[in-house]
Amino acid sequence: LGERDSFVGRKVLITAGPTQEPIDPVRYVGNRSSGRMGYAIAQAAWRRGAEVSLVSGPSALAAPWGVEFVPVATALEMRDAVASRLGDADVSVYAAAVADFRPVEPKDRKVKRTESGPELSVELEANPDIALETRRQRRAGSIAVGFALETDDLLENAKLKLEGKGFQLLVANDATEEGAGFGVSTNRVTILGADGSVDVLPLLSKDEVAEEILDRVEALLDASVKDETPGG
Ligand code: C5P
Repeated sequence: LGERDSFVGRKVLITAGPTQEPIDPVRYVGNRSSGRMGYAIAQAAWRRGAEVSLVSGPSALAAPWGVEFVPVATALEMRDAVASRLGDADVSVYAAAVADFRPVEPKDRKVKRTESGPELSVELEANPDIALETRRQRRAGSIAVGFALETDDLLENAKLKLEGKGFQLLVANDATEEGAGFGVSTNRVTILGADGSVDVLPLLSKDEVAEEILDRVEALLDASVKDETPGG
């Protein structure tokens, strides 16, 4: 316990897991995110002494010890949970795999095959981009960390997301690589910094990736404190 205390007094807000967008009371549109990466960061930040809020879509994982656990189902619920906490956060980490689309009109009763016939159309509309939409609510000097799971042009796409969503760090992984991405406990990531840095990391466990991310966040927080110090 308390191996390090470098995040004491820091508030860290993390999104994790998939979102589930209801089609009817029993079916949803979602994805295969396990939540592991975000949960690993939550646990690691707590071990460093942070006050952690974990806003999580449905996941089979147990809530990490010591964190404020905020379970949500849909992207809209996740957006609201983030918006109400972001103003207090020194660090925000967007590890959730938010469903890009949601059914326009979820049915309030289970859709029956006998009623729908051999085909069923579900009209979808775009969900908000949580990181982008809440960007202005981030505290000045706070550190925002995004993720990007890409299948092609990894660095180019990752850089666009880093800049477009105003992240200080972006953790990119190649979904086509073995041992990386959804549903596995390891990850091979490249961490891009807003300062132009590009760090290619070896295959690591998600717990080790969490530590690598927090080491970089820590350095950026220290630098932004120095900026604010008069004469510093
Ligand atoms: O889905 P995309 O690759 O654009 O995700 C990049 C980053 O933006 C991730 O950190 C993800 O958690 C965040 N995001 C979000 N809300 C969305 C889509 C993505 O916060 N609707």
